[in-house]
Amino acid sequence: MQDKTDIILIDDDTDLRRATRQTLELAGFAVEDHANAQSALGALSAATPAIVVTDIRMPGMDGLELFARIKTIDPDLPVILITGHGDITMAVQAMHDGAYDFIAKPFPADRLAQTVRRAVEKRRLVMENRFLRQAAEESRDDLPLIGQTPAMEHLRQMLRQIADTDVDVLVAGETGSGKEVVATLLHRWSRRKNGNFVALNCGALPETVIESELFGHEAGAFTGAQKKRVGRIEHASGGTLFLDEIESMPVATQVKMLRVLEMREVSPLGTNDVRPVDLRVVAAAKIDLGNPAERGDFREDLYYRLNVVTVSIPPLRERRADIPLLFSHFLARAAERFKREAPSLTSAVHQHLASHSWPGNVRELAHYAERVALGLAEPATPAAATGTIPSDGHASLPERMEQHEAELIRTALIENEGDVRRTIEALQIPRKTFYDKLQRHGINRADYE
Ligand SMILES: Nc1ncnc2c1ncn2[C@@H]1O[C@H](COP(=O)(O)OP(=O)(O)OP(=O)(O)O)[C@@H](O)[C@H]1O
Ligand SMILES: [Mg+2]
Repeated sequence: MQDKTDIILIDDDTDLRRATRQTLELAGFAVEDHANAQSALGALSAATPAIVVTDIRMPGMDGLELFARIKTIDPDLPVILITGHGDITMAVQAMHDGAYDFIAKPFPADRLAQTVRRAVEKRRLVMENRFLRQAAEESRDDLPLIGQTPAMEHLRQMLRQIADTDVDVLVAGETGSGKEVVATLLHRWSRRKNGNFVALNCGALPETVIESELFGHEAGAFTGAQKKRVGRIEHASGGTLFLDEIESMPVATQVKMLRVLEMREVSPLGTNDVRPVDLRVVAAAKIDLGNPAERGDFREDLYYRLNVVTVSIPPLRERRADIPLLFSHFLARAAERFKREAPSLTSAVHQHLASHSWPGNVRELAHYAERVALGLAEPATPAAATGTIPSDGHASLPERMEQHEAELIRTALIENEGDVRRTIEALQIPRKTFYDKLQRHGINRADYE
């Protein structure tokens, strides 16, 4: 159903349906019509902003049964019944049961338009109230997903839609863009919320540890496995398993994970047990796994298995209108935490907010707000504004260190032909740190292959 539809009209009689539709359209309403109740039901949900006008006598599901079904979907959705000869008693009963109104055939056009207008207005108020209540709840939440740009509204709406389904979700977004926030909300907004939210960072653990973490093991399954251990997958059963930095999952583990996702069962290491798990997997990736060039050794089949639904979080620079809102939220929070008055903002801060490219996204903005709250934010320089550092002799020590770091990373990438694993080994830093630094310095690894 289209968002702007006001009325869903159901009548099996083609001529009558066409005439009624025309009447309603002339009265200024957007109408979607259906020839039977089944098809209309398919277009309806509690999120439907429209009202329903339906004939009572129809083959298959009749208007009264349709009304009963709609009540279970959303009791506040106004249903107007069109009645023929002899249906009046039924229609009156339906009104007792909560139908909005009934109109007896044949009816004058303005009688229909009038009742429809009131019903549409009532629906609008109900939807608005729900929206406000929900917004109030969300801002009370200790984990808000702040943002009013269309991109964020869309994201929130999508999360609401999919949260309570069991589909596996791939969350894609740059560093600090809010992937973990999204994963947590998918859990909290689902009926799994009383189960465990189990997060595993696939990039932070060595290959040898990750499998026993995920699958668990029996005592003695391998050297060092003294005690039996329940794996994170089993621990997440009934709840949500969050696989962070899935792009860093070792290939051998990917194969086993694929099996878990397909079979919904897990075998702890060192056992022949097969245990069923009731799992919802949310995976997060910083790179575009759909792109073979970026995917590298990430298995395509696992990508497709995870990619039932992909939630893409746009980088902050593509939703700049949210920056002031986010910033004031973080500033207030920081001031409270540091027990200080939130400072009034200098033009340098305003300028930085408006011109910086925020490669570290929301996290970088939150850190900046903390520095501002502490009075430590440096005045915005042209360098800070563009995210690059001038290489003249006037750079400060921190700027020169940044520059030097970027240089060392570029050199390591050149020496290792852009190979991630080798470059990370050469630099001796965790994979996550490596990707964060690439982002921060605006280095594109693929350029070095
Ligand atoms: N829309 C938002 N509203 C409020 N806070 C947000 C929002 N997006 C992100 N944050 C905050 O920004 C910080 C970074 O978010 P998060 O940890 O979810 O990012 P991430 O995408 O998982 O980053 P990384 O890729 O580095 O793991 C967190 O403190 C989070 O609470
Ligand atoms: Mg994260």
